[in-house]
This record gives sequence, structure tokens and C-alpha cells, in this order.
Amino acid sequence: MTRAKILSVGRYLPERRVTNFDLANMFETSDEWIQQRTGIVERRYADEGVFCSDLALEASKDCLKNAGMKPEDIDFIVFATLSPDHHFPGTGVYLQRKLGITDIGCLDIRNQCTGFLYSLAVADAFVRMGMYKRILVVGSEVHSSALHYTKEGRDVAVLFGDGAGAVLVGPSDGSSGILSSHLHADGRYAEILMLEIFNISKKPYITHQTLDEGKQYPKMVGREVFKVAVTKIPEVVNEALNANNLKVEDIDIFLPHQANLRINQFAAQQLGVPEEKFFSNIQRYGNTTAGSLPIALSEALEQGLIHEGSLIMMVAFGSGFTWGANIIRW
Ligand code: UT7
Repeated sequence: MTRAKILSVGRYLPERRVTNFDLANMFETSDEWIQQRTGIVERRYADEGVFCSDLALEASKDCLKNAGMKPEDIDFIVFATLSPDHHFPGTGVYLQRKLGITDIGCLDIRNQCTGFLYSLAVADAFVRMGMYKRILVVGSEVHSSALHYTKEGRDVAVLFGDGAGAVLVGPSDGSSGILSSHLHADGRYAEILMLEIFNISKKPYITHQTLDEGKQYPKMVGREVFKVAVTKIPEVVNEALNANNLKVEDIDIFLPHQANLRINQFAAQQLGVPEEKFFSNIQRYGNTTAGSLPIALSEALEQGLIHEGSLIMMVAFGSGFTWGANIIRW
């Protein structure tokens, strides 16, 4: 069976920088608290009127430019986000329309912080099956519209930023490619990090009362997320290594989801990986959820951290809980 590989990568971050000091002017928090707990210094916010699909379009254009390809060359779209343009239809179709193409299939993946990782696994399987040859896989988020800029919502508001990344996945003609994907979930933790407003069991499912209660903002039990993340990340990294008969030292670079610098430092320490091998850009972007991994990949490539033959481990953990890893030979 043909192996699938990442042919090209792109990213887009909105221009507007929002520092911890800017947030401290809006509600009770401080640069010191945010940096100490999370490592975040600033994040980017999209302007009013900008959709998730708009950021995705810019990242996709960057990816296509780097591949020397046109939108017409894409034969399928996989779109990962937790901040879709609308509740339905899926955001993939908006991206397709903005790219100026029609007819090709669009699949939306709703897996939060592991959305890109799951999407890559899906694209990998489609390519290996021979169904498609040029799959555009995008992770994009506009979080800034749905954060609660008050003392009540500050634990979540300081963490998230807007941004998008995209990759093209196609058949490999050599030994490079996606070696394996390892996907997990535990629905017992579904309420630990969630957006409650869409409660379809209620008739009507959104009321003035639920709005007054602030259910349109994400809620999180941060400590629980932290605790489980630092266990599951090393666990799935080891699972991926074992599946490929690799040792932790064989990995040239770890691209972890950028949720909290402390989570990644903790995981690196547990795995015995030097911190410089655990890529990090959370300082500049915060948590861009589905955008985080392709943005990290794009920057790591630009910084010369990835070469032909490099072994890359992507790993992520987030709402659901969902978590996973994939190993890629570049
Ligand atoms: O992809 C998954 C995304 N989510 C995550 O990865 C989150 C993982 N969890 C975390 O990163 C941490 O739990 C946080 C950074 C969110 C919070 O850190 P913590 O050390 O777990 O703080 P806490 O929630 O236990 O709150 C400690 C104190 C509280 O005050 P009191 O009750 O001790 O007086 C909070 O009210 O910190 C307060 N606090 C804040 N203070 C200033 C909470 N958020 C803030 C804030 N600024 N933004």
C-alpha cells in the first residue's frame, strides 16, 4: 500500500497582537500570572467580520503556493475546527467556495485540540487506500469571538488565540511519509472542557436564560485537563514509538499541541527529552487548537529544524478528552 506524505505546509496568523497587558486592561489578570502558569506572552486576534474559513483560506493559499499548485489540484478537503463559521453547514464547504472550486468532497472534523491530528490520520488513510491524491487538511480557529473577557471567564480567555495552518497530503514515492497514527478518546471527561450553549435536548435549545448564564462561553476545569494531559501525552508518545520500534532518542523533533508550555515541559521531562527538541511557539500565539500543529510544523520547517529524513512526532491532547500522536518521516 502506498504511504501518504505531507507534500506542503502553510500557515496564517491574523495581524492583531494582543498581549497579556492588553488583557489585564480588560479584566483582572496579570502578565506575571499568565506567563508563569502557561508561558503565553501574546496571541493573535482576527478582526470583526473575519470567519474561521477566511483564516483557513489564507493558510491554504500559503500551502498551495509552497507546493506550486492551484486550488483545482486539490481533490478533497478535511477541515478541523471547534470554531466553525456556523453551526452548520460545515466550514469545509465555505473554504471550498472561497478557493473558487466546486464538487470535491469536504469533511469537517470536530475534535478540538486533536482535530488536526485526527484529520491527518483520515487523510493518510484515504491516500493509502488510493481514494485521493491531493488532500488539503486544514486546522483553523477564531476563538476571540467566543471568549468571556471577565474575571469569571479569565481562566479560559487568557489561553486561546486565532490562527490557521494547512497541509497537502498525497502519495509518497519513497520512504518518507506518515508512519502511523494513534488516536484515543475518553468521553467520561466530556464536560471538563466544553461549550454548553448548543443543548439540543432543550426546546428551544438556546434561551435568553442560557445566554444570561454565559453558556455561550467555553467552560473548563483547568486542573483536571492539566492532570490528565501530562499522563496521556507521554503514554501515547510511547505507544507510537513502540509501534514503530523506535526509541525516544530516534525522534528528531517533537511537535506538541500548544496548550500550555508547562504541560509540554512536564511531558518532555517525563519522557527524558531535552526541552529544545519539544517545539514551542505558544509564547506568541497561545492555544490555536486545531491550528496549533500545522502552524508549528510550518514554523519548524522555516526555522530549519526539519530536514529530509527527520523523524517527527506530533502529539496532542484536548477536550473530549481526546488525544493522540503520529510519527512522520520527512
Ligand atoms: O488543549 C486543552 C486546553 N486547556 C488546557 O490545556 C488547560 C490546562 N490547564 C491549565 O493550563 C491550568 O489549569 C490554567 C492555566 C488554566 C489555570 O492554572 P491553575 O494553576 O490550574 O489555576 P486554578 O484554575 O487552580 O486557579 C488558581 C487561582 C484562582 O484563584 P484563587 O481561587 O486561588 O484565589 C483563580 O481564580 O488563579 C485564579 N485565576 C487567575 N488569576 C489571574 C484563574 N485564571 C486567572 C487569570 N489571571 N487568567
